[in-house]
Amino acid sequence: MPATFSLGTSILLLLAAFSSSTIGKDVEDEEKHLRFPPNFLLGAATAAYQIEGAWNVSGKGESTWDRLVHEHPDRIYNGDTGDVAANSYYQYKEDVAILKNLGFKSYRFSVSWPRILPTGFPNKINAEGVQYYHDLIDELKANGIEPMLTLYHWDHPQVLEDMGGWLNEEMANWFGDYARIIFREYGSKVKKFITINEPKAVCKNGYSLGIHAPGKRLPGLGEYMCIHNVLKSHATAYRIYDSEFRSTYQGEVGVLLDVMAYMPQNFEFDAAAETSFQFNVGWTMHPIFSKEGDYPSVMKQLVGNRSKAEGFMQSRLPVFSDYWINLIRSSADFLAVNHYTSRLVVSGTMGEIPSHEHDQGVREVVDSFWKSSASNWLKVVPEGFRYILVQLARNYGNPPIYITENGVSDHGTLNDDDRIYYYREYLKQMLLAIYEDGVDIRGYFLWSLLDNFEWNEGYSERFGIVFVDYEDPKRQRILKKSASWWKEVIAAGKIETN
Ligand SMILES: *[C@@H]1O[C@H](CO)[C@@H](O)[C@H](O)[C@H]1NC(C)=O
Ligand SMILES: *[C@@H]1O[C@H](CO)[C@@H](O)[C@H](O)[C@H]1NC(C)=O
Repeated sequence: MPATFSLGTSILLLLAAFSSSTIGKDVEDEEKHLRFPPNFLLGAATAAYQIEGAWNVSGKGESTWDRLVHEHPDRIYNGDTGDVAANSYYQYKEDVAILKNLGFKSYRFSVSWPRILPTGFPNKINAEGVQYYHDLIDELKANGIEPMLTLYHWDHPQVLEDMGGWLNEEMANWFGDYARIIFREYGSKVKKFITINEPKAVCKNGYSLGIHAPGKRLPGLGEYMCIHNVLKSHATAYRIYDSEFRSTYQGEVGVLLDVMAYMPQNFEFDAAAETSFQFNVGWTMHPIFSKEGDYPSVMKQLVGNRSKAEGFMQSRLPVFSDYWINLIRSSADFLAVNHYTSRLVVSGTMGEIPSHEHDQGVREVVDSFWKSSASNWLKVVPEGFRYILVQLARNYGNPPIYITENGVSDHGTLNDDDRIYYYREYLKQMLLAIYEDGVDIRGYFLWSLLDNFEWNEGYSERFGIVFVDYEDPKRQRILKKSASWWKEVIAAGKIETN
C-alpha cells in the first residue's frame, strides 16, 4: 500500500531536501532551532563485540563473529579480530568515567549473548557473564548515567548458527529464552531495552551478501527468511516483557531499525523512491507500526510476481500467519532509529537475480557532490536525516523515536573537524524535524563513544569521539576534538555553531 502524502507534506519534504537554500539556512540557524528540548536524552552508543574483547574467558561461549574472524581472516581488513578490541570487559570503568566527564546522560551498550548463555540455551547460565553487566550497569547508575540495553548486536552463539541461526524459525523461541533471562536479571535496573540491532544489516550482510558473520551468501532467499525470523523473535521477546515483567518493572522495549533516506533524484522518480522506501524501511516498519500489520503489499506483489517469473513455486518472501501478524503488530513501545546516510532513487534495476536489491525494480545512486567519509557506503547528507524522520513520522503515526546511532568514520585523527561538522549538521536537521515538523524524538545517541572493531573493516575505519590506541596493550583512550565539542554542547544544551 503506497503511502499517500498530502501536498503540504511534499512541499515540506522538498524544503527538507534542499535546506541548503538561503531560506533553509536562516530557519535552521535560528536560536530556537539549535536548542535541545527539555529532558531530551543525550547519550553515546557501543556494541559488545566491537569493544569488549575477552572473547574466550570467564565462561563465555563462541559467537558467530569469533568464528568468522578466526576461520576467515581473509574476509576481515588486515585479518583484525575483536579478541581484545578496546578491552572494555576489563576497562569499562574508564569508559564510564569518560561518559561522566563529557556529561552524557545515557549509555547504549549491548550484551554478548554467548557470554550469558555459552551453550546457546538456558541449561547453563554463565554467572561471571551475568555479573559483568551488573557491574557495568551499577557503575553507570552510580555516575548518574541511564543504561539502554541492546539484547543482540550481531554476536549470537555459534551453536545456534550451526542449527541455522536466523534462518531457523526456532530462533524466535531461543531468542525468547535469552530475552527472559536478560529481563529477569536486569529489569529492575534497566528501563529501556532494544531487542535486535539493525535487522536489515544482520540479514543482508550476514545471509545475503555474506560479508558479515555468519558469512552466508544466499541472495534473494536468505535475507527474506532472516528478516522473517528476526521479526518473530523481536515480537516474542516483546510479548515476554509485556506479560511477565512490565507490571513489575515499568520499563519499555523498543525495536531498532537501520534506515537510510531514499529520496527521488527528481520528481520523475517519486514512485521509484516510494517503492524503495517500502522495500527498505516498510519491510520491517510495516509489520510493526502499520494498522494492518504484515509486509507492505507492494513487496508481497513484486517479490511474488518475480519469484513466479523466475520459476519458483512460492514467493521468496515468506508468508506470515494471522497469528504472527497479530503478535508482531504493535510490538514496540518506541522506535529506535540508526541513521547514517542517504541514497537517491532513479528508475532501473540493480543487484543480482534473485536478490532483495533486484526485486525492488529501482536503482540507487549517490550525488557526486556529497562529502565522503572513510566508509565507502557513508556519504554525508544531513538533509536526508530530516527527510527520513519526517517520512517515518507521517507514515507510521508519529511514534516516540530515539536516535540510537548516528556518526561518521575517518581513518584516525585527534583533530576530527569532519566529525564535528557531521554531528553539527545532522543535529540541526534532527532539531528541525522536531520543531518544524513535529516529529516525536525523545533522545539521541551518537555512534560511537570509542574507536572500535568495525566488523569486516577491522580497525581501519574509526567512528569514535574517543581515540583508542590499538598498538598499546593498555588500549589508552584519548579524547578527540569532537569529544570536547560534545562536552560543550551537552553543557550548553544547544548546538554550538562556531
Ligand atoms: C584466548 O584467545 C587468545 C587469543 O586471543 C589465546 O592466546 C589464548 O590462549 C586463549 N585462551 C584460552 C583460555 O583459550
Ligand atoms: C503482480 O502481478 C499481478 C498479476 O499479474 C498484477 O495484477 C500486479 O499488478 C503485479 N504487481 C506488481 C507490483 O507488479
